[in-house]
Amino acid sequence: MRVMFLLNGNPVEGDIEPRMHLADCLRDELRLTGTHLGCEHGVCGACTVIVDGAAVRSCLILAVQAEGSSVVTVEGLSTEEALTPLQTAFRKHHALQCGFCTPGMLTTAHALLTDEPDADADRIRSALSGNLCRCTGYVPIIEAVLEARAAYRKTEKP
Ligand code: FES
Ligand code: FES
Repeated sequence: MRVMFLLNGNPVEGDIEPRMHLADCLRDELRLTGTHLGCEHGVCGACTVIVDGAAVRSCLILAVQAEGSSVVTVEGLSTEEALTPLQTAFRKHHALQCGFCTPGMLTTAHALLTDEPDADADRIRSALSGNLCRCTGYVPIIEAVLEARAAYRKTEKP
């Protein structure tokens, strides 16, 4: 089935199996392996990407459902030049260890702070409550997101 969508700002299109979920499409067809797959049934949050501004589990939607949408993966949050404020805050607070959950943490936090740059710790905890981390514990992750808020208040898209 033909599908077209914007991926990290660039148009992509291809023939995709109607049953293929978006995460497999991103990783296997489009070779963007920053989106991780843990549980593949909507529990761990590792596969979170941003679809039309909302954090979405890419293992729970079909690639064909992305038709006409704007999809942003963790690769789309980076720049070649420097770490983004969110990445810098994760590094500073040691908010990752193995890094498996990190793409989902970053995309979820980015979607949240883009909409709610003044989100408090409770709101951040709630937004990230569907993202599981087995390594660092959640305190440093919350601290990193709290610190990154300042950058989202200053610019539209850090
Ligand atoms: S792989 Fe999608 S939620 Fe776990
Ligand atoms: S850093 Fe290893 S699962 Fe979160």
